[in-house]
Amino acid sequence: MDRYPKYLRYGIAEKKPSVLDQHFPVIGDGPLNGKRFYPRIEALERYIESEEQSVRFGAAAFCRFLHDTIAVEHNLVIPAIASLQYLPFRIPERPMEDLFLLVADEGHHAAQAVTFLNSIAERFSFEYQERRGALPLFLSRLNEINAALHGASQVNVSNVVAGVVTETRVSIELGEFSRNNDLVDEVRGTCRSHQEDEVVHASQFRALGAWMWAAIPDESRDLVCELFARILIARSLPDAGRIGFFLQQVTSIPKERCREIVKEIYTPEVLEAEVLKAAKPTLRYLDAIGIANTPSFRKTYRGFDYGTA
Ligand SMILES: [Fe+2]
Ligand SMILES: [Fe+2]
Repeated sequence: MDRYPKYLRYGIAEKKPSVLDQHFPVIGDGPLNGKRFYPRIEALERYIESEEQSVRFGAAAFCRFLHDTIAVEHNLVIPAIASLQYLPFRIPERPMEDLFLLVADEGHHAAQAVTFLNSIAERFSFEYQERRGALPLFLSRLNEINAALHGASQVNVSNVVAGVVTETRVSIELGEFSRNNDLVDEVRGTCRSHQEDEVVHASQFRALGAWMWAAIPDESRDLVCELFARILIARSLPDAGRIGFFLQQVTSIPKERCREIVKEIYTPEVLEAEVLKAAKPTLRYLDAIGIANTPSFRKTYRGFDYGTA
């Protein structure tokens, strides 16, 4: 690849980052007017005893989403951008400068998420973490992947892969929330402004991934494909344990039974289907740049054992 791929940047097409607005929505005590915080998880609804419990469950699930968002921004995307200067190949100056600008956006998204999360958790007075201080599941999985690598250079490549995996799908996820009429206005509004930023991010990370794939030294190509496959799965697996914990908090079902229920629902087949659904936008992108069809990607992606997940 001779030229860096074209991408969207702020300053063109009237695009301005949401960090400039310094807007921090919160949830007060006002009526919800039949709206919810998170789409219903149909398979769980028959265990939920009332509409009020269902709303509480959705609020907990949305807090989980916000908590994961903070971890994605602080521990995944910002480190991916920080790793750009330490890769075994060169990124041209202009695109790197543009990517550096996104750190401010991600810091703002995390700050917005924590204020919003605290206000929801306060209104419903529940815990969204079973163990205080525990890392979100996807982050401990990513840490495990990085811990098995050899040397800082591989970890930097892995960080960038994680950035590309995340940023090629997050704007689609956020768009689904912002368009969902069942959700409370503040949820939709926050997701909408975040999503507008993420359209720019997605474009820049798509260009970065394509450039990386063309520029990576031959001896690292298999590793990059394996990392894409493993990180894609790690980012997409549902956190069934946490869903069980929320079920226990909002219903009168005992803890052990909640654990059994989520085990019965999240079978290896269901987990695989959920991963495929969440990973679809990234898979399409990886297909377009020629990674999804490599033997090392396919072997790792298809060889994953959902029975042990
Ligand atoms: Fe973000
Ligand atoms: Fe982003």
